[in-house]
Amino acid sequence: MPASALVRPAADSRLPTPDQPVIEARGLVKRYGGAVAVDGVDLVVAEGEIFGILGPNGAGKTTTLEMVEGLRAPDAGTIRVAGFDAVADPASVRRVIGVQLQTTALFDYLSAAELISLFGGLYGAPTPPARADELLALVGLTEKRASRVDQLSGGQQQRLSIALALVNRPRVVFLDEPTTGLDPQARRALWATVRGVRDGGATVVLTTHYMEEAETLCDRIAIMDRGRVIALDTPAALIRNLGMAATVRAHVGGDTLPAAALAALPGVTTIVPTDDPTALRLQTSDAQATLVGLLALAEAHRVSLTDLASAQATLEDVFLALAGRTYEQDEQDEPAADSHRPPAKRGRRR
Ligand SMILES: Nc1ncnc2c1ncn2[C@@H]1O[C@H](COP(=O)(O)OP(=O)(O)OP(=O)(O)O)[C@@H](O)[C@H]1O
Ligand SMILES: [Mg+2]
Repeated sequence: MPASALVRPAADSRLPTPDQPVIEARGLVKRYGGAVAVDGVDLVVAEGEIFGILGPNGAGKTTTLEMVEGLRAPDAGTIRVAGFDAVADPASVRRVIGVQLQTTALFDYLSAAELISLFGGLYGAPTPPARADELLALVGLTEKRASRVDQLSGGQQQRLSIALALVNRPRVVFLDEPTTGLDPQARRALWATVRGVRDGGATVVLTTHYMEEAETLCDRIAIMDRGRVIALDTPAALIRNLGMAATVRAHVGGDTLPAAALAALPGVTTIVPTDDPTALRLQTSDAQATLVGLLALAEAHRVSLTDLASAQATLEDVFLALAGRTYEQDEQDEPAADSHRPPAKRGRRR
């Protein structure tokens, strides 16, 4: 059976068409005590896109998602999902969406296939064995249909939790950090699963910490920081609009190079602050001109440059330009035992 039969009939076009939004959220605000977690967020998601909400810890991603899912009431703002009002009529919204559950909430002693049929019952969506097999195939777990959940790897459990989010043939599937804690190979496998869900006709909204994931998987991204959306576009447009082409990096040996001279190099738009005084990082609109100028400058100051490299601009550069600090700084602040954090978090809040 084609993947398109698994979720819903495929839409005519996968292209984001903002005039056909499946989600339209305006002016969302959520306060916890005195603190503002979400501070005036607008999101418009088109049918059939993979939409990413990217941001560091505490940016407000989960809170935003929960309001759109109809699970948390906003303090201000309006939300429509597939034509239903998520504030006034959350029950209708929940009928047309699928929400990925935290893996820790799975029942360890059931098999993958049993769990799918149990969830089908909860949703009032009968799941005969053939339907469970379709869903398991979609997430690449056919061979594990009879395996107990506690015998699946972390990545397999994440994929199973996506299958569970699909049992009621939702129009919109919400995934909160579906790949956190997975190794690179498992993460790529999960990306393929997410694309399969979209190709089956559903719209996917996911949150992520990972720049690379947002860049390669998502059609459009909202970058959130401190409760606000600081940018929203396709990954390519976000990078293009920066007006910079690349980052030039090097390690400087011997003396340091004067900041004013670095800033005056051809093409340089920003000198990126780094923790390591010998590490040099320049954003530039013309990598070649900057490299030529940098080599001449090093020569003149008799300093050596090692590990000289230039790399195309990425979403990290977008974050730095808009948030005024590097993304890695936030990520380094995460506790070491963080790899299992997202499942724990969702439970903690409820
Ligand atoms: N139930 C709650 N009670 C009080 N404060 C909360 C609650 N939930 C979230 N917050 C606060 O709201 C802010 C946004 O949290 P949220 O979980 O939405 O961020 P996030 O972007 O999902 O972060 P992470 O990447 O760590 O999952 C944070 O400062 C958080 O501490
Ligand atoms: Mg979160």
